Amino acid sequence: MSSASLFQRAQAVTPGGVNSAMRALETPVVWERTEGAHMYDVEGRRYLDYHAAFGPIVLGHNHPVINRAVSAAINQIDLLGVGTTEFEIRLAEKVVEHVPSADMALIVGSGTEATYHASRLARAVTGRMKLIKFQGCFHGGHDYLLMNIISPPEKIGQKDPGSAGMLPEAIANTIVLPFNDSEALEQTVTSQGHDIAAIILEPIPHNIGCVLPEPEFARTLRDLCDEHGIVLVFDEVITGFRHGLGGYQEKLGVTPDITTMAKAIANGYPCAVVAGRADLMMRFSTAGGDVFLAGTYNGHPVATSAALATIEQLEDESVYEQLFRLGEKARQGLQDIADNLDISMIVAGYGSVFVPYFMSGSIKRYADLLRNNTEADIAFRTEMIKRGVFMFPHAMKRNHVSAAHTEADIDHTLSVAEDVLREMSRKFRL
Ligand SMILES: Cc1ncc(COP(=O)(O)O)c(C=O)c1O
Repeated sequence: MSSASLFQRAQAVTPGGVNSAMRALETPVVWERTEGAHMYDVEGRRYLDYHAAFGPIVLGHNHPVINRAVSAAINQIDLLGVGTTEFEIRLAEKVVEHVPSADMALIVGSGTEATYHASRLARAVTGRMKLIKFQGCFHGGHDYLLMNIISPPEKIGQKDPGSAGMLPEAIANTIVLPFNDSEALEQTVTSQGHDIAAIILEPIPHNIGCVLPEPEFARTLRDLCDEHGIVLVFDEVITGFRHGLGGYQEKLGVTPDITTMAKAIANGYPCAVVAGRADLMMRFSTAGGDVFLAGTYNGHPVATSAALATIEQLEDESVYEQLFRLGEKARQGLQDIADNLDISMIVAGYGSVFVPYFMSGSIKRYADLLRNNTEADIAFRTEMIKRGVFMFPHAMKRNHVSAAHTEADIDHTLSVAEDVLREMSRKFRL
């Protein structure tokens, strides 16, 4: 069976042949199975995976412990839609135990739902309508926040909605600011603070690769929110559980009021969490409050058992030690190769994440990334894929090491990357 013929069938019945934007590839691939650090297509080709399904795969694909936990759960119970289960109770307890901002937690189905509920909660508790987000951050598909992610240069500083059909009022009520710009933040909050319900951010904007927050910016965020009664929301859908059990907030030493998490919490199973201060969380209608929160599949045993088993694996600190060590080896190795070949490259990243940008100079925010050589970035990834190392073939997208990757995998990746970059340095002016 060829990917091309199967994909033709997909295109006949599914718009574009894929079930989520960004999954389409120039050369279509239909996947058959996954194992550890690898994925296999229907033609039997094997790829070393750094895409990690956009981040959830932190322990490795098809992890036997997670699989056993999910199998046991589904042999015991399925969906009831009333009351709760011990799976849900134990998962919320784990989140509360590990995540500094989490007094209480609610389990929902996706990251989009989590940021949607967090935004509405903030509006309800403050009685204010405006949200602040940052250029380059992505928080899911709802109208409140779907704007100004990877914007074209002419749209920076203006509203750049991510979809047709968005409610104009939603777009108008979301203010977009540059990341790591304390001055712009202070000016906006000083003049409009009385209208602002929440400031929401990816503490590391990983949707544009990896841009680390400056400590002073993070402190300013917390201080301004305290001063003006604004709800601070950290969207840790990517960073949560990938960078540490306590999320990136623990590393940063800044505690938000509300945190959203998904992806790595359940190693590939569909689980997300809204967590935060008890007084805010108690406003949700699950506790009889006035902020509606419901979902048929919320707290599903498949998701909660996978999340519990994933967190239990991550509680063995040697997993993070390995993720961080291999991430650093990949970053340092790629940087050395680029430097030796005299290629302008900054290998950014944190922990298990590494992102080669084809540029030089400092990176503080999205506008700086307009200097990235997109053509070279995509060409590099495309050539890596051809050689069996899967790096998502869009500019600035993250690579993720999982606990199933080995030192030998990183060595192999670096050796392939060296061949590709040497070839590219002859073709491109890098
Ligand atoms: C930071 C962040 N928040 C929210 C979302 C939305 O999550 P989901 O795709 O589970 O709806 C994403 C998805 O990539 C994300 O990266």
